[in-house]
Amino acid sequence: MFLLITRARSLAFETQVMTDKPGSVGPAAGMKTAKMPGHWVLARLGKRVLRPGGMELTRKMLAALRIGNTDKVVEFAPGMGVTAQITLTLAPESYTAVERDEEAAKIVSGYLTGERQRCVVGTASDTGLPDDSATVVYGEAMLTMQTEEMKRSIVREAYRLLPGGGRYGIHEMCLMSDHLEETVRRETERALTGVVHHGVRPLTVSEWSTLLQSEGFEIRAVELAPMSLLEPRRLIRDEGLKGALRFAWNVFRDLEARRRVLEMRSVFRRYRKVLGAVALVAVKQ
Ligand SMILES: C[S@@+](CC[C@H](N)C(=O)[O-])C[C@H]1O[C@@H](n2cnc3c(N)ncnc32)[C@H](O)[C@@H]1O
Repeated sequence: MFLLITRARSLAFETQVMTDKPGSVGPAAGMKTAKMPGHWVLARLGKRVLRPGGMELTRKMLAALRIGNTDKVVEFAPGMGVTAQITLTLAPESYTAVERDEEAAKIVSGYLTGERQRCVVGTASDTGLPDDSATVVYGEAMLTMQTEEMKRSIVREAYRLLPGGGRYGIHEMCLMSDHLEETVRRETERALTGVVHHGVRPLTVSEWSTLLQSEGFEIRAVELAPMSLLEPRRLIRDEGLKGALRFAWNVFRDLEARRRVLEMRSVFRRYRKVLGAVALVAVKQ
């Protein structure tokens, strides 16, 4: 019964996405497509997987987190709730999501049931959750968009929520080389920020590791994937054939959204050798 209700809610949202013009429903409702952060443009077009390494890297991160039925899981920034649904199939003792966007939080809440599953509207840097209240914390595609200071505050918050031995997973965009010229790095950030309409500040794999280590975590697993979020093969792998076709149809019928998607894809392609996706799993010492 619960699965039926959840599926009905998700179908209702998909139908809304199919029939309403982007910008009229869901996250960032009311904002013009031309000004909207890139991830919400994609979500409005029916894309639900908004992280750089796709579902394959998500599954690797989850495997390394080894979530079981005694775990208390906190997810930062669940977005459209895709990873939340996988986590729930692992039957953790509890699941709490912390999402900044109210509309996204409503969508995620549609997948949750009972007192031990909830989604709070708030910021990952200051969740208001008690110390040591989680055994697993993870967040995807949510640190890259923060300033250096805010990245650190969020990692610190994950640390505060976990007891010793607690696991923290991240899945983020990365720079593939540790020896990138500063000018190339700045140019890449500028180009990404320009098309995404939101700060995009990826770190190298060793910088992500150092950030976590400097806040008291020990790195246990590192996985890499290409940053091919908007490539056809990845779209089909992440969204399924039906979802990819629905996305393509929505892109086709909306000129402004199409312009945004093509701009983003063109920058992702231009910097494909510079950019990648990384998942790190670390343990609180
Ligand atoms: C690129 S989307 C990624 C969504 C989802 N994690 C995924 O990978 O598909 C970024 C998400 O981070 C959320 N977000 C950004 N900063 C946040 C913060 N400080 N606290 C909580 N959520 C945040 C946004 O509202 C959005 O849902």
